[in-house]
Amino acid sequence: MSNAVQTISVDLGDRSYPIHIGDGLLGQRLRQLVGEFRSKQVAIFTNPTVSSLYLESTLAGLSDFNVDVFTMPDGEAHKNLDTYNDAMDFLMDHRHNRTTCLVALGGGVVGDLTGFVAATFQRGVDFVQIPTTLLAQVDSSVGGKTAVNHASGKNMIGAFYQPQSVVIDISVLRTLPDREYAAGLAEIVKYGVIYDAEFFAWLEANSEAISARETQALIHVIRRSCEIKAEVVAQDEREAGLRAILNFGHTFGHAIENLSGYGTWLHGEAVSVGMVMAAQFSERLNRLPQGGASRIAELLECMDLPVTLTGDVERQAMLTAMGMDKKTVDGRVRFVVANAIGQVDLVADYSQAALDETLAAFCSR
Ligand SMILES: NC(=O)c1ccc[n+]([C@@H]2O[C@H](COP(=O)([O-])OP(=O)(O)OC[C@H]3O[C@@H](n4cnc5c(N)ncnc54)[C@H](O)[C@@H]3O)[C@@H](O)[C@H]2O)c1
Ligand SMILES: [Zn+2]
Repeated sequence: MSNAVQTISVDLGDRSYPIHIGDGLLGQRLRQLVGEFRSKQVAIFTNPTVSSLYLESTLAGLSDFNVDVFTMPDGEAHKNLDTYNDAMDFLMDHRHNRTTCLVALGGGVVGDLTGFVAATFQRGVDFVQIPTTLLAQVDSSVGGKTAVNHASGKNMIGAFYQPQSVVIDISVLRTLPDREYAAGLAEIVKYGVIYDAEFFAWLEANSEAISARETQALIHVIRRSCEIKAEVVAQDEREAGLRAILNFGHTFGHAIENLSGYGTWLHGEAVSVGMVMAAQFSERLNRLPQGGASRIAELLECMDLPVTLTGDVERQAMLTAMGMDKKTVDGRVRFVVANAIGQVDLVADYSQAALDETLAAFCSR
C-alpha cells in the first residue's frame, strides 16, 4: 500500500472543493481528509452491498462524530422519490438540523441520491462523497450533478449541488465486479478522446496494468480523469456549452440503453459502443482521420468492453430513441463528434446520410 494522498481541486469560486485520491483512505485517515464539519452530526447514506464491505472502516474514521446510518436498497430502481422521502423521514426522525453533514458511501446511485437530499434538506446541508465504484470515482462524484429518476425518465428531478470534499479510496475497487469495473473504464477512455491525446496513448500503453487494477495505474487514471472532468466543469458548471463534450458517445449510448430496457446493458457498456459509433460517424463526416475509430475500438476491447451491438436493433428505433435524447435543442439532435483523438466539437449541423450509414453499420435492420 502506498501512503501518499494526491489532492486535486475543483475550482468553482466559493464552491471549490478538494478531491483526495489514495490507497487505503478509509479508517483512521478519513478524519483528516473529509474537512471540517459544522457540528457533531453526521448521516452516512449507503446500501447493504457497500455497507457490508466498507461501513466499518468508514465509521472508524468518523468516530469523533454522532453518526446515523441511512441504508437504502441497492440498485438504480431505488434512485427515486420514494427513497428520497424515506431519507427525509430518516433525517427528521433522527433530528438532524441545518448543520448536519451527509456522507455518500457507495456508487453513483447512492451519490446522486445523497447529493439531491443534501441540496434540499433544510434548503441545503453539507455533504461529502466517498465514491466506491470506478464510475462514481471518475464521473458521478465530480461536477455537482445530483438527481433522482422519475417514471418518465432518468435524472428528471435534481439540482446542481457541490460537495464539501470527495475522498477516493482506490482499495475499494478490488471488490468491484468485473463488469462494473469495465463500465467505469469506458468513461476514462472518453476523457482521453474528448480532451487529452497523451492520456489516450498512456491508456493504450498501460491497458494491462489497468485491467489488472494495479495501484499506481489506478491512481494515475483516476487522478487524470478527475482533473479533466474538473477542468471542464470549472469552465461550464451548468452545461451551457462546453460541458456537453462529456456526452461523447452518450447520444448513441442512451439510445442503446433505452431500446434494450434499462438494466440489460450497463451504462458504460452502452457508452462504449456509443463511442465507437460516434467515432465512425466522425470519420464519415470527414472530421476524425481514418483509423481513429478503430484505435478507439481497440482500446475499448482491450478493456473488455463491447464495441458492437448484439441482438435485433432497428435503425429507425435508434433514430426515434435519439430524438428523445435530452441534448435535443429545438428538435434537432446535437452530437459530440471527434476532430482528432483528444479534440471534439458539439455539432447540430451534419449530414443525415453519414448518420444513416453509421446506424446501418451497427444495426441489424
Ligand atoms: N451525477 C453525475 O454526474 C453522474 C454521472 C454519471 C452517472 N451518474 C449516475 O450514476 C449511477 C450509476 O452509478 P454506478 O455505475 O456507480 O452504479 P451503482 O451505484 O448502482 O453501483 C453499481 C453496483 O456496485 C455495487 N458496489 C458499489 N461499490 C462497490 C464496491 N466497492 N465493491 C463491490 N460492489 C460495489 C453497488 O452496490 C451496485 O450494486 C446512475 O444512476 C447514473 O445516472 C451520475
Ligand atoms: Zn456516462
